[in-house]
Amino acid sequence: MAAQQPLHVLVTGSTGFIGAHVVDNLLAKGFRVRGATRSASKGEQMKAVRPQYASLLEFVTVQDFSHIGVFDAVMDGIDAVIHVASPFFYNTTDNEKDLILPAINGVKSILSASAQSGSKVRRIVLTSSFASVLDVDRNPPPDFVYTAEHWNPLSYETAIDPGSSSVVAYRGSKKFAELAAWEFIKTNAPRFDLVTLCPPMVFGPTVHPVSSVDQLNESNAVLWSVAAGADPLPTARVPAWVDVRDLAEAHVQALMSPGAGGKRYIPVSPEPFSYESAADIIKDQFEWAVDSVTRDYEAGKKPQASYGVDGETVARELHFRYHRFRETVVDFVVQVRRDFYASA
Ligand SMILES: NC(=O)c1ccc[n+]([C@@H]2O[C@H](COP(=O)([O-])OP(=O)(O)OC[C@H]3O[C@@H](n4cnc5c(N)ncnc54)[C@H](OP(=O)(O)O)[C@@H]3O)[C@@H](O)[C@H]2O)c1
Repeated sequence: MAAQQPLHVLVTGSTGFIGAHVVDNLLAKGFRVRGATRSASKGEQMKAVRPQYASLLEFVTVQDFSHIGVFDAVMDGIDAVIHVASPFFYNTTDNEKDLILPAINGVKSILSASAQSGSKVRRIVLTSSFASVLDVDRNPPPDFVYTAEHWNPLSYETAIDPGSSSVVAYRGSKKFAELAAWEFIKTNAPRFDLVTLCPPMVFGPTVHPVSSVDQLNESNAVLWSVAAGADPLPTARVPAWVDVRDLAEAHVQALMSPGAGGKRYIPVSPEPFSYESAADIIKDQFEWAVDSVTRDYEAGKKPQASYGVDGETVARELHFRYHRFRETVVDFVVQVRRDFYASA
């Protein structure tokens, strides 16, 4: 990417959990932001609660990106893209149609729109996932550490198989969408470069339009279920997590750092987590939770991780620090109680 900083950034998924934090981080740094959303009314709600950024923030409605070409008409004046949007839910009826093709086509659409003649785009930051890194069948030796060099070996055939769970399909959607992005760069040698971020579970307060706990995004919904009394507690598929505010900072730093071009990073807190540790924190911090959180688990047990994940490289190269798990959980629970239950 040219040494010159981008000025006008297109953010896809801008009305979702992570995308809205990316929007706020960009605005706070003085960037102009064009948010792409499927819902004009969510865009209007985001604008309405950010009056101080009226001159920097606009939204464009972009239909479901199962169709290639959806971004072609919204690139005018844009010199960088943060592509966050991707389907993230588990109640699928057709793995390939619901999750995998939209994820891949979304990536192809945004990259081809950015490569149109006359495009000023010089960098694209893509929200991938630790799902495209992790090999769930690996039995790692002691001290094994996942780095950005690792790729999930899942095959396309297994990911789309109707017999595969939607969790497997989601992992495939992230892997094959990220691969499509790297392949596009290799094949087309466009004028922009690419940075991909592969976060594990993302938790933290929300800044996108959510009007009830039923509308929380997938990862936060599971965390909230602990406070709401889930019994048994959910089981963490991976013991790794990152605070959404740290992840947003990583996205924006990835856009701003000339040396990040062509790199893949894993933003992940150095602290492993478990839902048991979340339950401990919530009970310790909130009196009301002593009755609501289940007692039926081993309290005080430190989270165990059978492997490490290198989150230090990205924090060092992109200059940010990680929140502690306790802070993330408390900030999130305070917000949910205040916004949806009118008490803290
Ligand atoms: N949360 C996590 O734990 C986690 C972990 C690793 C990676 N990620 C990745 O982070 C990204 C954002 O996830 P999130 O947690 O912020 O979830 P989210 O709140 O559900 O956001 C998903 C966003 O993608 C957009 N989207 C989904 N399907 C689409 C489609 N077919 N066409 C156009 N837009 C579509 C949604 O648009 P609308 O707002 O218009 O509905 C929404 O803004 C995804 O790429 C996800 O894979 C999330």
